[in-house]
Amino acid sequence: MSLLVYVNGQLLPKDKACISVFDHGFLYGDGIFEGIRVYKGGIFKLKEHIDRLYRSAKIINLEIPLDKDDLQEDVIRTVRANGLKEGYIRLVVTRGVGDMGLDPRKCERPSIVIIVVPMPRYLGKPLRVIISSTRRMPYQCLPPHAKTLNYLNNILAKIEAISAGVDEAIMLDLNGYVAEATGENVFIVKYGVLMTPPITAPILAGITRESIIDMSKELGIPVVERQLTIDELYTADEIFLCGTASEIRPVIEVDGRIVGNGKTGPITEKLIKHFDEYIQRYLTPVYG
Ligand SMILES: Cc1ncc(COP(=O)(O)O)c(C=O)c1O
Repeated sequence: MSLLVYVNGQLLPKDKACISVFDHGFLYGDGIFEGIRVYKGGIFKLKEHIDRLYRSAKIINLEIPLDKDDLQEDVIRTVRANGLKEGYIRLVVTRGVGDMGLDPRKCERPSIVIIVVPMPRYLGKPLRVIISSTRRMPYQCLPPHAKTLNYLNNILAKIEAISAGVDEAIMLDLNGYVAEATGENVFIVKYGVLMTPPITAPILAGITRESIIDMSKELGIPVVERQLTIDELYTADEIFLCGTASEIRPVIEVDGRIVGNGKTGPITEKLIKHFDEYIQRYLTPVYG
């Protein structure tokens, strides 16, 4: 069966699912999105993702033409129509069709697209990373809490990782403190304490990051949110990245330096083991 894609309220076969070339999402990256996982026929933290989408919309001054409940229902409907039990949802809202100018007032109605695809699990799969020379965009330029369609900053860092022959890049902020990876938040472990950059750093307020903090409390692992330096990355006992697509992935090498003993560390392992049980408690059922 061909994939069905939701475009502005209609479910269309993949090859018929189109938006205009005059859409400002296409022309200018003017829009917002969410990436959401489907596990065992349920949607993980759907409400949290919908809430973040509306926060992103508010930051970029875009009014989503549906209320939260209706949009949530449309996401569920799209997953159900595709019979997806395990996979990934991409929910995109753009400024809509306008003209060649930047003026968003020319865009009458935002476009909404929902794509669902199968996606393998990455939980526990190790990564080698570099610290990229591309710095994370500061608040003063583009609020990082808005998950916008502008990912070029992250893509440039990703290109550096690819050129260096590793899997991922960790980006620093303009002051040289650790920010985040190109599509994941960063955690390190030192002396048994889990540490991650604070929410005031130029990072996305990751839903998996929040889940990690939550799980750590359940497991009695101390967590500190504070600025992290490059040398703390180099000398960390453990490092992992986390995000919706990546889930929890141990970092075994940074800039050619082996992390810990080069294997998944004990605290990372504990969180990975706990993750599937944790997920179960936050699934919105799709199939009744
Ligand atoms: C830049 C960036 N940081 C962090 C994350 C992790 O966020 P979440 O756990 O909500 O997927 C993502 C994933 O979308 C991201 O794109």
